[in-house]
Amino acid sequence: MHERVVLLTGATSGIGRETARGLARAGATLVLACRNLTKAQALCAELQQASRNPRISVMALDLASLRAVRQFVDAFLASHSQLHVLINNAGTFCLQRQETEDGLERTMATNYFGPFLLTAGLIPVLVQSPGARIVNVSSAAYRYGRLDLNDLQLTRRYSGFPAYASSKLAIQLWTQELAERLQASGVTANSLHPGHVATNIWQLWPQPRWYQALLIRLLTAPMISPAAGAETTLYVATAPELAGVTGAYFVKRRPRAIAKPARDQALQRALWRVSERLTGARWPVQVA
Ligand SMILES: NC(=O)c1ccc[n+]([C@@H]2O[C@H](COP(=O)([O-])OP(=O)(O)OC[C@H]3O[C@@H](n4cnc5c(N)ncnc54)[C@H](OP(=O)(O)O)[C@@H]3O)[C@@H](O)[C@H]2O)c1
Repeated sequence: MHERVVLLTGATSGIGRETARGLARAGATLVLACRNLTKAQALCAELQQASRNPRISVMALDLASLRAVRQFVDAFLASHSQLHVLINNAGTFCLQRQETEDGLERTMATNYFGPFLLTAGLIPVLVQSPGARIVNVSSAAYRYGRLDLNDLQLTRRYSGFPAYASSKLAIQLWTQELAERLQASGVTANSLHPGHVATNIWQLWPQPRWYQALLIRLLTAPMISPAAGAETTLYVATAPELAGVTGAYFVKRRPRAIAKPARDQALQRALWRVSERLTGARWPVQVA
């Protein structure tokens, strides 16, 4: 990975943190795009020291703010002429419905709309980087998602898990459409399920009562470690044998069939159009 520039979101915790560790060790030029800069700077220093790789840096990115995503894209394009791997890893799970400053539902905004806008903005630099890859961290939960294009803000009915599952279904549909649109450019787009991983995403309550803490402990005890959870991301992001592979979904480092709702091409295109409208993203002309 010595000649490769990698941009990773959500590196400050869980799977992202271990993905960052693997990429630092592999010698990549690594940009950690994070919302908590204190945590990110500490991680950056730790990784530089442990891996003896000085080519690691931090940039501010809050995916739940369209303004922040646009600012990030401008700053990245102004400072980088190459991007070989974009890893959309950051994600959230919200038990209660919340709205962002843009009036978007927070789970959909963080997990899907933010990455959609980010990726569209970075296409110009991805297409000029040989063998570029987009890696979207999805979840097997996508199979339980339902998308109502007239209610992507989930105003009618909200519940934590269905909202999360729907955001992951959106990622699956989007990844397929991305792969299709990028076919001629050589940039690939794939998604993956990391496994059930014991990370902070399962800390469902900000101040858990004793029985909630116990529930989380019981829930996460059989799960795999963040390091094991990062394996599939690292594989899809770096494996030489995956050069040219696009539109695929990986579980445990292997391609897995994509369930029918995520293969609905009419829905993929319709979701894309609504997402462009809601985020203001514009698809670059050179890969139209
Ligand atoms: N854990 C699992 O079992 C599991 C299963 C399937 C899929 N996944 C997916 O794996 C990915 C990583 O999750 P994880 O389990 O490692 O969770 P995690 O430990 O909670 O890490 C989530 C990361 O996303 C970042 N993040 C959250 N909201 C953000 C925002 N608005 N802007 C920028 N960054 C933001 C967090 O930053 P802070 O440090 O600032 O909070 C953190 O770095 C997610 O996409 C998740 O949906 C996880």
